[in-house]
Amino acid sequence: MASEPPQTQVFGFVGLGNMGMHLANNLSLYAQEQQFPKVKVWNRTPSKSQHLAQGHCEVAGSIPEIGQACTIVHGCLGNDDAALSVYRQLFSCKRRGAIYVDHSTLFPATAERLQEEAREYGVAFLSCPVFGPPAAAQARGLLIALSGDPTPRDVVKSYFIPSLGKGVIDCGDNASNGALLKILGNNCILGTIELLSESFALAEKTGFDANVFYDFIQQWFPAPAWINYGKKIRDGAFSGKTGFTIPGGMKDASYIRRLGAETSTPTPIIDQAWNHLTTAKAIGGDSLDWSSCSAGMRVTAGLKPFKGEDFTLKKDEIEKSGRANDKNGV
Ligand SMILES: NC(=O)c1ccc[n+]([C@@H]2O[C@H](COP(=O)([O-])OP(=O)(O)OC[C@H]3O[C@@H](n4cnc5c(N)ncnc54)[C@H](OP(=O)(O)O)[C@@H]3O)[C@@H](O)[C@H]2O)c1
Repeated sequence: MASEPPQTQVFGFVGLGNMGMHLANNLSLYAQEQQFPKVKVWNRTPSKSQHLAQGHCEVAGSIPEIGQACTIVHGCLGNDDAALSVYRQLFSCKRRGAIYVDHSTLFPATAERLQEEAREYGVAFLSCPVFGPPAAAQARGLLIALSGDPTPRDVVKSYFIPSLGKGVIDCGDNASNGALLKILGNNCILGTIELLSESFALAEKTGFDANVFYDFIQQWFPAPAWINYGKKIRDGAFSGKTGFTIPGGMKDASYIRRLGAETSTPTPIIDQAWNHLTTAKAIGGDSLDWSSCSAGMRVTAGLKPFKGEDFTLKKDEIEKSGRANDKNGV
C-alpha cells in the first residue's frame, strides 16, 4: 500500500549559527522536495540569514513573523537564556497546534519548563538536541535525541531521517530526557577530548610520533569523537569557525558539573577538562574550538600551548578580555 503524502507544513527556523545554518538548509531542501512553502528563517544577527535566501528560504524580519506563519519551527540557539527568550516569543503568537523543535543543548530543567509553558499556549515543545559537529549537520549525519509529547513526536519522526540526520533515539514523553541524553553524551565526548589531550601530551613528552599514535587511534578506537578530535589535537587545529567554540563547550561542561552537584555525583574528568578549557580560553580566547582543551593540558605539561597555527591572543586582546570578565563579575 502506498504511504500517504505528508501533510503540508509551513516550516520556520530560528538560530543560524554554526549548526543551525546547515540544519536550516537541509530542512529547506526537504520542504522544497515536498513542495511545501519556503522555510522562514530568522537570526539575531541578520547578515547570517542572507545566503539561505538564495535557496528555498525566506528571511523573516522578526520572531513573531515566524510564530504567526509557521506550523513547525525548528531552532538551534547558543544557550538557555536565548532559548527561553526566543521560544516564549514564539509561544505567545498562540498558533494552536504549532510544534517547536529545539536542537540546542539545554539544561534538562529548562527543556521541561519550555514543554510546560508551550502546553499552556496550546502548542508543543520537543527537545531534539543533536550529536555531531557542523560538518555532520551539513552531511545529514547527525544523531538526534527526541523527546516530548507523543503526537508531535510522531510528526517530526516522519521527516527527521534522512532529511536532517542518520539516526534518532526516542527518549519518551518528558522533554527533559532528550536534554539529559545530550548531556550524558557530552560527558563522554568532553571526557574523550580530555583523555586525548593527555595522551597526545604524553606522546610528545616521551618523543613518540604523533602520527603513529593517531594511526593507533584510528585502528583501535574508530568512533567519530576519537577520530575527529584526535586529528584536531594531533594537528593543533583549534579554529572554532567550523566547530564548537569554547563558550559553548564550557556551557555544556557547566551542565554536567551542575547535574553532578545536584545528584552528589563526582565529575572529576569534566572538572579537569573545565580547568584546561579555562587556560585555553585565557591564552587563545573565545573563538577556539573546545578541542583546544588540549592547549590547556599542554601548558600544564610544560609544552607550548599551540603547535601548527598560533592562536595566542595579542596583548590588547588579553586586556580587553580581562576587562570584559571584570565587567561580568567572572
Ligand atoms: N557546534 C557544535 O559542534 C554543536 C554540536 C551539537 C550541539 N550544539 C549545540 O547547538 C547550539 C548552537 O551551537 P552552535 O555551535 O551553532 O553555536 P553558534 O554558532 O554560536 O550559534 C548560536 C546561535 O544562537 C543565537 N543566539 C545566541 N544568543 C542569542 C540570543 N540572546 N537571542 C537570539 N539568538 C541568540 C546566535 O545568534 P547570532 O548569530 O546573532 O550570534 C546563533 O544563531 C548550542 O546549544 C550548542 O550547544 C553544537
